[in-house]
Amino acid sequence: MASDKDSIKNILVVALSVCLVCAIVVSGTAVSLKPEQRANKQADRSKNILIAAGLFEEGKTPVGNVQELFKEFTIKIVDLQEKRFLTDEEAKAAGINVETYDQRKASKNPALSKALPDDEDIASISRRARYSVVYMLEKQDGEVERIVLPIHGYGLWSTLYGFIALEGDLNTVAGITFYEQQETAGLGGEVENPDWKALWEGKKIYDNQHHVVLRLVKGGVDPNSPNAEHQVDALSGASLTSRGVENLVAYWLGDDGFGPLLAHMQNQQIGAI
Ligand SMILES: Cc1cc2nc3c(=O)[nH]c(=O)nc-3n(C[C@H](O)[C@H](O)[C@H](O)COP(=O)(O)O)c2cc1C
Repeated sequence: MASDKDSIKNILVVALSVCLVCAIVVSGTAVSLKPEQRANKQADRSKNILIAAGLFEEGKTPVGNVQELFKEFTIKIVDLQEKRFLTDEEAKAAGINVETYDQRKASKNPALSKALPDDEDIASISRRARYSVVYMLEKQDGEVERIVLPIHGYGLWSTLYGFIALEGDLNTVAGITFYEQQETAGLGGEVENPDWKALWEGKKIYDNQHHVVLRLVKGGVDPNSPNAEHQVDALSGASLTSRGVENLVAYWLGDDGFGPLLAHMQNQQIGAI
């Protein structure tokens, strides 16, 4: 005769208890690791800002910690609607702390962002936050040495988040990085390949009329082409991700992004000479 221990009720109680314990352990671990995951994500984003600016070489351990290196930046808030920098007082009045401002979260808040009509939404981002944080390296006389701008836009499968750094002429690319994307590894995922990112260095974003003319070229750039300085090799076998990158650069450096502010800064620098 089967003992009480082997009854269906007992088996179910034991199985459910094991499930419950496992669920508690797994969810407890997930919850307890969340702050660490968030901190790691933030550290990776910061590292990418440093890499774009050329303050930290990819794959190498930084000299000094990331926070120390970060102190070299002057961090500013840009009002993309009014196309100008906010003063510290204005940023404070708008409730923005440069250390903690989350542009991604702001872009989901209708009070802090605008919906983009289809003809404006070339980066396929649907909404754009009104305020953006930018990171500047300045020379001793206050002139801009490099500026790092956050960029994002849709590729083939995912939104790519990254940074583009410009030299002091506010036109020549100093570096580009992507810290978050879910394109296919080996295809669109090659946006993170250091060799491909290196192709961007020295390329020019704008023509003489300050139009964004940077393009990604399928099959590779002809170095003898008169437009070669405005062209980067598209990723092979990943034309759609490449098109996404071209579009997001055009959007963020164009009229609805940082373009007017950069043009104004350029004019100011020329005026100061
Ligand atoms: C499983 C799979 C994953 C793919 N992932 C990407 C991708 O991440 N980015 C991309 O542009 N194309 C990707 N493609 C290829 C596209 O469908 C398309 O063929 C390609 O972008 C065309 O690029 P090409 O003109 O350089 O060949 C993928 C295709 C397959 C079958």
